Amino acid sequence: MEVLIKRRKEIKRRRVLKNKFLGFLFLKNICSNTYIFIDIFFRRRMGHLYLITAFTDKDYVIGNKNGLPWNYREDLKFFKEKTMGQVVIMGYRTFESIGKSLPGRINIVISNEVHGVIYEKGCYMMRRLEDAVEYAKENYPLKDIFVIGGSKIYQDSLEKCIFDKIYVTRICKEYEGDIFFPYSSLITKYQPSSQLKSFYHPELIFEEWIYISS
Ligand SMILES: NC(=O)c1ccc[n+]([C@@H]2O[C@H](COP(=O)([O-])OP(=O)(O)OC[C@H]3O[C@@H](n4cnc5c(N)ncnc54)[C@H](OP(=O)(O)O)[C@@H]3O)[C@@H](O)[C@H]2O)c1
Repeated sequence: MEVLIKRRKEIKRRRVLKNKFLGFLFLKNICSNTYIFIDIFFRRRMGHLYLITAFTDKDYVIGNKNGLPWNYREDLKFFKEKTMGQVVIMGYRTFESIGKSLPGRINIVISNEVHGVIYEKGCYMMRRLEDAVEYAKENYPLKDIFVIGGSKIYQDSLEKCIFDKIYVTRICKEYEGDIFFPYSSLITKYQPSSQLKSFYHPELIFEEWIYISS
């Protein structure tokens, strides 16, 4: 009799264990499915497409002698904060002017020529802007994509892309330059949505522009 009771207890204990295990599997399954669902949902793309630039108020100068005509630490800091950890797309001359890949970011350089130096410096190379944007969206769906210049790339992207936002650092001071922002292409499709005057440099205004359609 005692043996029989022991046996029954053992069977009951095993049944409880089995149910616990099945419950655990069930929960694990739900968690895993939820995870897959979230993954798929967010992979549809959470990153945004931005253009970021700095130009002079009067003539829309962005560059001089393949470099920046100014040196505002605050603007560089702003650029770094926005683009860090994200994807940046630039023209070959802008890449040349920087002279390296921007650290902590996925760098894509647009060029019609194959320049070994692009790969040596750890950047991707694409022949067309559209391909670069597609590649970034496909491979880095959670990252923001920043078109960072120069003039040709700005022009091309303003014609072909719709940006979620455009970051402009307006420089209220005259600088000599030989490369200009395609301002007319900007104002036909976008308008400023916010402006913030720099506390440290009275000549710097940080603006955000949004799409208003053409
Ligand atoms: N102020 C700012 O916010 C800012 C930002 C970025 C740059 N900049 C300044 O701007 C100047 C550089 O600009 P940039 O206009 O001379 O040159 P860029 O746009 O940076 O690069 C031009 C080169 O990129 C390639 N490229 C550009 N558009 C292309 C397209 N649609 N399809 C295929 N390839 C394309 C071509 O390279 P290949 O000839 O190799 O084919 C072209 O020669 C520098 O002075 C830089 O300092 C200023």
